[in-house]
Amino acid sequence: MRKTLEEIRARSLRAIGEAAEPSVLESLRVKYLGKKGELTAVLKQMGSLSPEERPLIGQLANDIRAAVEKALGDKLAALQDELLRARLESEAIDVTVPGRPFILGARHPLKIVWDEAVDIFVGMGFQVAEGPEIEYSDYNFTKLNTPEGHPARDRQDTFYFDELDSVCLRTQTSPVQVRVMEAKKPPIRVISPGRVYRKDEVDATHSPMFHQMEGLVVDRGITMGDLKGTLNTLVKRLYGPEALTRFRPHHFPFTEPSCEVDVQCFECRGQGCRVCKGEGWIELLGAGMVHPRVLAGCGIDPEVYSGFAFGVGLDRMTMRRYKISDLRLLFENDARFLAQFG
Ligand code: DAH
Repeated sequence: MRKTLEEIRARSLRAIGEAAEPSVLESLRVKYLGKKGELTAVLKQMGSLSPEERPLIGQLANDIRAAVEKALGDKLAALQDELLRARLESEAIDVTVPGRPFILGARHPLKIVWDEAVDIFVGMGFQVAEGPEIEYSDYNFTKLNTPEGHPARDRQDTFYFDELDSVCLRTQTSPVQVRVMEAKKPPIRVISPGRVYRKDEVDATHSPMFHQMEGLVVDRGITMGDLKGTLNTLVKRLYGPEALTRFRPHHFPFTEPSCEVDVQCFECRGQGCRVCKGEGWIELLGAGMVHPRVLAGCGIDPEVYSGFAFGVGLDRMTMRRYKISDLRLLFENDARFLAQFG
């Protein structure tokens, strides 16, 4: 019996020593120390021993049980240590590794000028109105006193969607005027910046998509003086208090009278230079008093109300502001170019 016990001791301790997982230790515990385990089985035969041998064998069995229990406990602790160490190693984060640099975006130069222009007009009590880029020709042309057959409606210049030319990509922000006047009664004071489209070939000053900002004021007693005051305020805010404007007669179908507004060249102060191509003045925008026919078409009585309107090219304003010589730079999305305007 002593021999059997010693054999169990040796075998169990070796197995414990070789165990590679806690679950193996648990089955070894059952195998040797469990109710139906090997050690228990031996102890059940104690009755067959002589009274002198019984305490000695009993002592030996207890020693073995204690040794196996200790070995199981030690091995379990060792395995858990090892597992933890391996996990810490595999999940280690090196907090000293430098972070990946990330690129901070910047506002697009066009958006900077756009926002600035909006701010200037909001400061004068204007609200921002929006209109669709896909527009009825009725709104883009007809209601703006530009009837069918008018050269401005030419298929060579306008992206139409259908055979009847009844829907197009808006060629100007002016149709927003009509939408606003149809939707609300005077007093009206709105601006409307947005994209417009024309069938232009791409070059340094042309793009089939570009940006305008429309302005519209309608109320009782609005005069050309209000138009001049408003646009002079815009120009002085944009180019400084010394900036001068010039109002030249012009023609637009939807305003009467109509004008183009120039700003005195800030490079040469009107002397004529490369920037203004020797003119001394730089063309800024189109404007005028809203045509009575346009007002009436929108249900506003031209005998009671009058208004002014203007349309300014935001792309050109941006190019002038940042001395950008090629319009294409604004639309190529080259980050090396755009990063300069942070
Ligand atoms: N829509 C015109 C254009 O694209 C610009 C314009 C001129 C707008 C006179 C106006 C205006 O509101 O009154 O050339």
